[in-house]
Amino acid sequence: MSRSIDVELVNIQKKFGDNVVVDSFNLQIEKGECISFLGPSGCGKTTTLNMIAGFLEPDQGDLLIKGKRMNGVPSNKRELGMVFQTYSLFPHMTIFENVAYGLKLRKVGKAEIAERVRKVLELVKLPHVADRYPKQLSGGQRQRIAIARALVTEPSLLLLDEPLSNLDAKLREELRDELKRLQQEIGVTTIFVTHDQEEALYLSNRIVVLDHGKVEQIGTPWDIYNRPASEFVHTFIGKSNRMPGTLLKSEGEQLLLRTEAGFTLQAPARGRTFTGNQPVSIYVRPEKIRLVVADTAAESANQVKGTVKLTSFLGAYTECEVEVGGDVLTVRIETGNEDAGLTAGSTVFLQWKSEDVFVFARKGNER
Ligand SMILES: Nc1ncnc2c1ncn2[C@@H]1O[C@H](COP(=O)(O)OP(=O)(O)OP(=O)(O)O)[C@@H](O)[C@H]1O
Ligand SMILES: [Mg+2]
Repeated sequence: MSRSIDVELVNIQKKFGDNVVVDSFNLQIEKGECISFLGPSGCGKTTTLNMIAGFLEPDQGDLLIKGKRMNGVPSNKRELGMVFQTYSLFPHMTIFENVAYGLKLRKVGKAEIAERVRKVLELVKLPHVADRYPKQLSGGQRQRIAIARALVTEPSLLLLDEPLSNLDAKLREELRDELKRLQQEIGVTTIFVTHDQEEALYLSNRIVVLDHGKVEQIGTPWDIYNRPASEFVHTFIGKSNRMPGTLLKSEGEQLLLRTEAGFTLQAPARGRTFTGNQPVSIYVRPEKIRLVVADTAAESANQVKGTVKLTSFLGAYTECEVEVGGDVLTVRIETGNEDAGLTAGSTVFLQWKSEDVFVFARKGNER
């Protein structure tokens, strides 16, 4: 089966002074894919997007769009639609004029402009605001218009740089759903920059996780969550509980570990190699832990005894902090599965499957 590659980054590098902010970035984006660049502030997301957009030139490497080398090609020749974090509508133009702007530049006829603007305003569910000015719209509506304006020219590539981050939580979620619907409906190849992992998981076919200008992992949301390539990826995506410990024994894929709190645990090596007495960080996600309220329990592997410190009811689940010999573990219990005796001070046992444990090497001097 032949794949159609829309965008290709080959060994892209960007420096500001001596500071390498994007390093050996390699990526192929298929036609119609939605790709997220995800990572903490300053990791190089916007810089990379700006190179794809043509606002910045890479120092090294090649950028290809639909197989054509784009280095040095001006932004307006790249057939892009763009939406930024801050509303970038022209304040002195009506919504109609704002959306029509790109078509006018392209010398599209009046009747066709009217038709395409009408259609795209319908697509973002704001057909009634054409005669208003940007200041007469809410923040969420303005961002929808910015999206409409980016789509009206039927770009071959849609670039979104944190388009939702200036909105309040509820609106953010609504517009996130809308973006997903739009992306599926029109099938435009999309790059979405965010530091919000949930947004990235929700919207993307694949996620590129970046840290300090380096690609840590490229994968589907499922892969990134369940098969993290590094400790950084595991802890950046979703919540996880960390316990410092040491390796006691490794037998093929099976690791036997002891936490600093003195519990013995089993875990899979996941293809990583560890050496004897290696200091490690051991992780288990809150939703993978089973909690039993009891004073005694039959001994079993991957079971630890602790004391409940705090419980917080959050609607769909209760979050519970349990002290386990110096480590505090967060446990997430789905509503309906709570144990009646679950109060601060209760003695509990925490259990998990060894396949849900993640182990990463740790430097000896780190706690
Ligand atoms: N024009 C510039 N001159 C010098 N350094 C820059 C310039 N633009 C960005 N940087 C630096 O490059 C690094 C990456 O910046 P970038 O804007 O790409 O980060 P980001 O991942 O988009 O972060 P955020 O989530 O905060 O938007 C940062 O350390 C930043 O300080
Ligand atoms: Mg940025």
